[in-house]
Amino acid sequence: MPGKLSRRDFIKRSAVGVIASGAMLSSINISALTRSAAAAKAVFRKSGDDIVVKLSENAALSKTGGSVKINDELMLIRNSETTFLAIRTICTHKGCDVELEGNKFVCPCHGSEFSLTGKVETGPAEENLKTFETIFDSGKGTVTIKTAGADKKEEKSN
Ligand code: FES
Repeated sequence: MPGKLSRRDFIKRSAVGVIASGAMLSSINISALTRSAAAAKAVFRKSGDDIVVKLSENAALSKTGGSVKINDELMLIRNSETTFLAIRTICTHKGCDVELEGNKFVCPCHGSEFSLTGKVETGPAEENLKTFETIFDSGKGTVTIKTAGADKKEEKSN
Protein backbone atom coordinates (compact mmCIF):
# COMPACT_ATOMS: atom_id res chain seq x y z
CA MET A 1 0.00 0.00 0.00
CA PRO A 2 1.65 3.28 -1.13
CA GLY A 3 2.23 6.02 1.46
CA LYS A 4 1.87 3.69 4.39
CA LEU A 5 4.94 2.38 6.22
CA SER A 6 5.15 -1.21 7.22
CA ARG A 7 6.21 -1.86 10.78
CA ARG A 8 9.57 -3.17 9.50
CA ASP A 9 10.21 -0.01 7.38
CA PHE A 10 9.27 2.23 10.29
CA ILE A 11 11.79 0.47 12.57
CA LYS A 12 14.51 0.66 9.90
CA ARG A 13 13.97 4.39 9.33
CA SER A 14 13.83 5.10 13.05
CA ALA A 15 17.11 3.26 13.58
CA VAL A 16 18.78 5.32 10.84
CA GLY A 17 17.48 8.52 12.47
CA VAL A 18 18.76 7.51 15.89
CA ILE A 19 22.22 6.66 14.49
CA ALA A 20 22.39 9.97 12.58
CA SER A 21 21.37 11.93 15.68
CA GLY A 22 24.01 10.16 17.74
CA ALA A 23 26.69 10.98 15.16
CA MET A 24 25.68 14.66 15.18
CA LEU A 25 25.72 14.86 18.97
CA SER A 26 29.14 13.21 19.21
CA SER A 27 30.57 15.83 16.83
CA ILE A 28 29.59 18.69 19.17
CA ASN A 29 32.48 19.87 21.32
CA ILE A 30 31.04 19.13 24.73
CA SER A 31 33.79 21.13 26.42
CA ALA A 32 32.63 24.21 24.53
CA LEU A 33 29.26 23.82 26.18
CA THR A 34 30.72 23.55 29.65
CA ARG A 35 33.43 26.17 29.24
CA SER A 36 33.69 28.56 32.14
CA ALA A 37 32.79 32.19 31.71
CA ALA A 38 35.36 34.36 29.98
CA ALA A 39 37.85 36.24 32.13
CA ALA A 40 36.90 39.77 33.10
CA LYS A 41 38.30 42.64 31.06
CA ALA A 42 41.16 44.33 32.86
CA VAL A 43 41.34 47.95 33.89
CA PHE A 44 44.92 49.04 33.19
CA ARG A 45 47.10 51.87 31.99
CA LYS A 46 50.05 51.93 29.64
CA SER A 47 53.40 53.24 30.74
CA GLY A 48 55.67 53.24 27.73
CA ASP A 49 55.83 49.60 26.65
CA ASP A 50 54.65 48.43 30.05
CA ILE A 51 51.11 47.61 31.08
CA VAL A 52 50.28 48.53 34.67
CA VAL A 53 47.38 46.75 36.37
CA LYS A 54 46.14 48.07 39.70
CA LEU A 55 44.77 45.26 41.85
CA SER A 56 42.20 47.50 43.56
CA GLU A 57 40.63 48.18 40.13
CA ASN A 58 40.52 44.52 39.12
CA ALA A 59 38.48 42.51 41.60
CA ALA A 60 39.07 39.27 39.66
CA LEU A 61 42.71 39.42 40.73
CA SER A 62 41.94 39.69 44.44
CA LYS A 63 42.39 35.96 44.98
CA THR A 64 44.78 33.28 43.75
CA GLY A 65 43.59 31.74 40.49
CA GLY A 66 41.83 34.93 39.40
CA SER A 67 42.45 36.25 35.91
CA VAL A 68 41.71 39.21 33.65
CA LYS A 69 42.04 39.78 29.91
CA ILE A 70 44.25 42.73 29.07
CA ASN A 71 43.18 42.47 25.43
CA ASP A 72 42.24 39.73 22.94
CA GLU A 73 45.72 38.21 23.16
CA LEU A 74 46.98 38.81 26.66
CA MET A 75 45.77 37.43 29.98
CA LEU A 76 47.01 38.13 33.50
CA ILE A 77 46.59 35.36 36.08
CA ARG A 78 47.26 35.55 39.81
CA ASN A 79 49.23 32.40 40.66
CA SER A 80 49.78 33.14 44.35
CA GLU A 81 49.65 35.98 46.85
CA THR A 82 52.71 37.58 45.23
CA THR A 83 53.16 36.00 41.80
CA PHE A 84 51.41 36.71 38.53
CA LEU A 85 51.63 35.28 35.03
CA ALA A 86 51.09 37.32 31.89
CA ILE A 87 50.51 34.98 28.97
CA ARG A 88 49.65 35.34 25.30
CA THR A 89 46.51 33.33 24.64
CA ILE A 90 47.27 32.67 20.98
CA CYS A 91 47.97 29.05 20.11
CA THR A 92 51.47 28.52 18.75
CA HIS A 93 50.20 25.92 16.28
CA LYS A 94 48.11 27.99 13.88
CA GLY A 95 47.06 31.02 15.90
CA CYS A 96 43.64 30.21 17.33
CA ASP A 97 42.59 31.73 20.66
CA VAL A 98 43.18 29.29 23.49
CA GLU A 99 40.68 29.12 26.34
CA LEU A 100 41.43 28.84 30.03
CA GLU A 101 39.67 25.67 31.16
CA GLY A 102 40.23 24.71 34.76
CA ASN A 103 43.98 24.32 35.25
CA LYS A 104 45.04 24.41 31.60
CA PHE A 105 44.72 26.30 28.34
CA VAL A 106 42.95 24.41 25.58
CA CYS A 107 42.95 25.24 21.89
CA PRO A 108 39.52 24.62 20.35
CA CYS A 109 40.92 24.34 16.81
CA HIS A 110 43.04 21.18 16.95
CA GLY A 111 43.10 20.29 20.62
CA SER A 112 46.51 21.45 21.82
CA GLU A 113 46.72 21.80 25.58
CA PHE A 114 49.06 23.97 27.63
CA SER A 115 49.79 24.13 31.34
CA LEU A 116 49.03 27.26 33.33
CA THR A 117 52.62 28.33 32.71
CA GLY A 118 52.09 27.97 28.96
CA LYS A 119 54.06 24.74 28.51
CA VAL A 120 52.81 22.44 25.75
CA GLU A 121 51.24 19.32 27.25
CA THR A 122 49.40 17.99 24.20
CA GLY A 123 50.10 18.77 20.55
CA PRO A 124 49.92 19.39 17.68
CA ALA A 125 51.42 22.68 18.99
CA GLU A 126 55.15 22.29 19.57
CA GLU A 127 56.00 25.68 21.09
CA ASN A 128 54.92 26.95 24.49
CA LEU A 129 52.58 29.90 24.81
CA LYS A 130 54.47 33.18 25.12
CA THR A 131 54.78 34.65 28.59
CA PHE A 132 55.86 38.08 29.74
CA GLU A 133 57.78 39.20 32.79
CA THR A 134 55.60 40.61 35.56
CA ILE A 135 56.65 42.79 38.49
CA PHE A 136 54.42 42.89 41.54
CA ASP A 137 54.66 46.01 43.71
CA SER A 138 52.90 45.18 46.97
CA GLY A 139 53.24 48.78 48.22
CA LYS A 140 51.43 50.25 45.24
CA GLY A 141 49.23 47.20 44.72
CA THR A 142 50.17 47.01 41.06
CA VAL A 143 51.39 44.41 38.59
CA THR A 144 53.54 45.66 35.73
CA ILE A 145 53.68 43.53 32.60
CA LYS A 146 56.89 44.00 30.64
CA THR A 147 55.94 43.63 26.99
CA ALA A 148 58.89 45.46 25.43
CA GLY A 149 61.30 42.51 25.16
CA ALA A 150 58.78 40.18 23.61
CA ASP A 151 57.66 42.73 21.06
CA LYS A 152 61.24 43.45 20.02
CA LYS A 153 61.91 39.74 19.54
CA GLU A 154 58.86 39.50 17.29
CA GLU A 155 59.95 42.53 15.30
CA LYS A 156 63.35 40.95 14.73
CA SER A 157 61.82 37.74 13.40
CA ASN A 158 59.73 39.61 10.80
FE1 FES B 1 45.78 25.47 18.22
FE2 FES B 1 46.00 24.10 15.96
S1 FES B 1 45.68 26.23 16.20
S2 FES B 1 46.06 23.35 18.00
